[in-house]
Amino acid sequence: MTTLNVELGERSYPIFIQADLLSQTDLLKPFLKTANVVVVTNDVVEPLYYPTLLNALGGCKVQKIVIPDGEAHKNLHTFESIISQLLSMSAARDTTLIALGGGVVGDLTGFVAASFQRGMPFIQIPTTLLAQVDSSVGGKTAVNHPLGKNMIGAFYQPKVVCIDSTTLNTLPEREFSAGMAEVIKYGVIYDAAFFTWLEESVAAISAKQPDALQYMIARCCAIKAEIVSLDERESGLRALLNLGHTFGHAIEAEQGYGNWLHGEAVAAGIVLASTVATKMNWLQSSENRRIQLLLERFDLPTSAPTEMNYDRFMQHMRHDKKVQAGQLNFVIPTGIGSAKVTSDIPDEVLRAILA
Ligand code: NAD
Ligand code: GLY
Repeated sequence: MTTLNVELGERSYPIFIQADLLSQTDLLKPFLKTANVVVVTNDVVEPLYYPTLLNALGGCKVQKIVIPDGEAHKNLHTFESIISQLLSMSAARDTTLIALGGGVVGDLTGFVAASFQRGMPFIQIPTTLLAQVDSSVGGKTAVNHPLGKNMIGAFYQPKVVCIDSTTLNTLPEREFSAGMAEVIKYGVIYDAAFFTWLEESVAAISAKQPDALQYMIARCCAIKAEIVSLDERESGLRALLNLGHTFGHAIEAEQGYGNWLHGEAVAAGIVLASTVATKMNWLQSSENRRIQLLLERFDLPTSAPTEMNYDRFMQHMRHDKKVQAGQLNFVIPTGIGSAKVTSDIPDEVLRAILA
């Protein structure tokens, strides 16, 4: 088993990564405050993995809340419904919430945990690639508002993250590819050697070879843990993790949440950010080409939907959380393995690229 640690003083927590981890009994028990547990999952993941988790929690009083599947349900309505169910179950502040599912379940459950009676412990058991390499680590929790993604939320860290890489065997291929956008993101912003390893390992990753998956997930979590430990509240370094997200969130909002998957929108956003970087002479065209090629090899989109234009992008991006003093900030690669946040992009460059 690979064990990593997110170092945040008294809020530090481990990340466990291993095939078949879910069936390990006694792994979670040290992290429960009492024997009272509520598992939040959705109607797709529940039949696949809830029975195994229930078995591993033998001896605890386990109840479950099953929400409808999909990004469209990551909203205040589902948030209220989970709170209502917790109240009717007589859950208390010492009940532990477990998020079993992808990023939607994890972000929602984390936000409920942060809010219910001003905070209850929670555990992340991510079952999508995107959630295993990104959303389950770092404590960003949120729901969407019709005017913008993740507009309502909190920083709230889990007690432990348990990653069972075998859950990826049931994940639809399109979802696996979407997770690869976030994986590639780490190589672009932080780790040139990892980017090269990804280029050399496309076949092994696509075949879901256990060793390749274990290494890939662990490297992503290690990078994320390092960044979050240095900048939990995103006052600087952590913003780099949003590469492709400013453009990507605009695509998601324009298309209606869930029509373009988050990772697909991020992939197109990474290419837009790289193209801006190349136009500004911050990134070589050969590096831009390598980034696009790697995204393509995992069947990810490398351009925005044709109906989007400069005005549509700008309308959505004005609501971006990275707007400061009215200025839009962009994460822009400055080479493979490095990136910077800048608001210094001339409007003509954006117009030319987003046209
Ligand atoms: P998701 O949670 O919607 O899961 C994708 C699909 O896969 C769903 O239909 C789900 O039911 C299904 N699924 C999950 N696990 C499965 C499995 N093992 N086998 C079969 N099907 C399975 O989407 P996602 O891509 O995991 O997460 C996207 C969300 O994550 C977005 O809302 C995004 O904003 C958020 N996010 C958050 C952070 C963060 O730091 N908190 C980071 C990145 C993304
Ligand atoms: N996924 C971006 C972050 O966690 O900061």
